[in-house]
Amino acid sequence: MGKLIIRGGNPLNGEVTISGAKNAALPLIASAILAPGEMVLRNVPRLKDVETMGMLLQHLEARFLHDGEVRIDTSTIAGIDAPYDLVRTMRASVLVLGPLLARMGEAVVSLPGGCAIGARPINLHLMGLEKMGATITLEQGYVRAKARRLKGASIYFDMPTVTGTENLMMAASLADGLTVLENAACEPEVSDLANALNKMGASIEGAGTTTIRIEGVNRLNPIDYAIIPDRIETGTFMAAAGITGGKIRIKACRWEHLDAIIMKLTEAGIEIEKDGEDIIVRGPERLAAVNVKTMPYPGFPTDMQAQFMAMMSIADGTSVITENIFENRFMHVSELMRMGANIIIDGATATVKGIPFLRGAPVMATDLRASASLIIAGLVARGETHVSRIYHLDRGYDAIERKLRALGADIERAKES
Ligand code: EPU
Repeated sequence: MGKLIIRGGNPLNGEVTISGAKNAALPLIASAILAPGEMVLRNVPRLKDVETMGMLLQHLEARFLHDGEVRIDTSTIAGIDAPYDLVRTMRASVLVLGPLLARMGEAVVSLPGGCAIGARPINLHLMGLEKMGATITLEQGYVRAKARRLKGASIYFDMPTVTGTENLMMAASLADGLTVLENAACEPEVSDLANALNKMGASIEGAGTTTIRIEGVNRLNPIDYAIIPDRIETGTFMAAAGITGGKIRIKACRWEHLDAIIMKLTEAGIEIEKDGEDIIVRGPERLAAVNVKTMPYPGFPTDMQAQFMAMMSIADGTSVITENIFENRFMHVSELMRMGANIIIDGATATVKGIPFLRGAPVMATDLRASASLIIAGLVARGETHVSRIYHLDRGYDAIERKLRALGADIERAKES
């Protein structure tokens, strides 16, 4: 197991290029199941989760190659199951449920089980498929879904779900008739998937809004498609530059996907400016305390909450951070407190009293974004921070320590004893 050693205090300076979005790449890889033939995906980040999704497709007997771009050929698919061993390492494996059911008439997918950040059930995915005529049974921890051909249906989500919307959008693309998804997730990754599906021959309208209309078609064709840049990686670098009082130019990012993040970071005193396709970020001498509540897109993303909290831990004043999406996404708090942060949690609310500086300490990453938060804290802390269990980080950030080092951070990977 690896760890990161960070010696804090260097302001970040220079240029960084953002990789393709993890949460767009994963559904897009699953969507290849819907279109037999060779599909080419570009700008796919080099991540453990992408590798796991590739292994899942290979398990289904598809061809999957990640060499520069990703090449997938699902003509040979014979399997219909997503085994527990893969699903438990990556919940997004559940994204093959809709496509497998639509293409093969049957899918057997392990229930993901609990997760470090919350219970994260998939009841809304299953409810939607049932409405589309699938028979769903639960057998020894696996969901078995069957339908000769799915039928269009009107589906209302009790709460917006990103992968749920994506799963049903993929399934509905090959269903018989019109499916309407109400209270759908509006995240840019959902829109990216809809764009790709439309290019494949699907008929989807309204992605990016809360009502998505999908008119089923008889077949989809493989395409060559470039994935959007990762807005959470972009936000993470903005926070890293902001907290260290540095100045960086972020290349290959999409300003229009970052509204809430830019507004909140600006309120905290970070200067953010658009320069053509790039974004320039300048950190202040001291950050200001700002309250934030996580919400579905276009609200402030839960995937930036931990990084924002690292910033607030040394801001001038007290901030209140409310986590509305996942019930257990404050695991980074006790680790930040080991570095001196003054944080009190009460239910879904963390009250962060800013202190003048953090001190380096050995800390443990508990999930992907918590790892990013601890790195950001380590970059500005006095002394040395050791972040252990960084396998979480490798699931979702493409070459983060190489990118940070190129910006002047003192960060290295070491073996954990
Ligand atoms: N929910 C249900 N029932 C469902 C589905 C969701 O109750 O059937 C609840 C969840 O428990 C949660 C809320 O609805 O409270 C929203 O969850 P959502 O389904 O939107 O999350 P997800 O699709 O499992 C994706 C991202 C997450 C990101 C969330 C929220 C992917 C592969 N994952 O998860 O990304 O935090 O949306 O934006 O797209 C990450 O990248 O670090 C990450 C965790």
